[in-house]
Amino acid sequence: MEVVILPGTKQIGALAADAIESLVRRKPNAVLGLATGSSPLPIYDELASRYEAGGLDFSQAHGFALDEYVGLEAGHPESYREVIRREFTNRVNIKPDNVHGPDGAAEDLEAACQAYEDAIKAVGGVDLQILGVGTDGHIGFNEPGSSLASRTRIKTLIEQTRKDNARFFDSIDDVPHHVVTQGLGTIMDARHVVLVATGAQKAQAVRDFVEGPVAAICAASILQMHPHATILVDEAAASSLKLADYYRHTYDNKPEWQGL
Ligand code: F6R
Repeated sequence: MEVVILPGTKQIGALAADAIESLVRRKPNAVLGLATGSSPLPIYDELASRYEAGGLDFSQAHGFALDEYVGLEAGHPESYREVIRREFTNRVNIKPDNVHGPDGAAEDLEAACQAYEDAIKAVGGVDLQILGVGTDGHIGFNEPGSSLASRTRIKTLIEQTRKDNARFFDSIDDVPHHVVTQGLGTIMDARHVVLVATGAQKAQAVRDFVEGPVAAICAASILQMHPHATILVDEAAASSLKLADYYRHTYDNKPEWQGL
């Protein structure tokens, strides 16, 4: 696990975009794992401006969303399918047919979750998965207690997550209780994961998953077992890390050819 402490969201967005740009140049049909929420927005902004500047081509790329609410009507502005479209895929030349999300409106959710797993497998798996982390340590919507080997399935949101996400809705009553999410096992299959966390409200979760034990109570801690996990944090989110100075030293002295 590599922890990179950066001054702010602009630098985080640029560094993550560098990794995605070099992937897409190397492998034009790359499969990107797309998160929603606030954390990835600087990455999407940066990728959109690099695309507009003419340097980046997503025409053969694929995108797979991490998760989706259950119970929002199709086209709801806060459904993750819409958020991904608005914040990223509509702003670049990725083909709409190449952008997928778990179907939270399916009648048979179990079958839809299996179909989602199959669709990821059919394109060869996720090359680079963008992640945020919840204040309770969730990734995707794998809340505390999630099986560390879980696959895409329905989950119930913890009340704190509903409160955290109420800012996107008119009222907390409108935040669904259920979601479908890639499992921790699904996320762990991605070849590279890039997790972004910013702000003091994430400091405890970052400390727990980076330096605490690997345990289902903090789902993101499974990333300690990932062979290629990059954690991009600002100073506030890094403020509780015991080994912050070591992470800074390591990154400052990293050979340039290594990239992320
Ligand atoms: C979003 C997702 C969640 C968020 C997490 C942090 O697709 O899966 O795990 O990444 O809740 O959300 P923000 O970035 O809004 O703090």
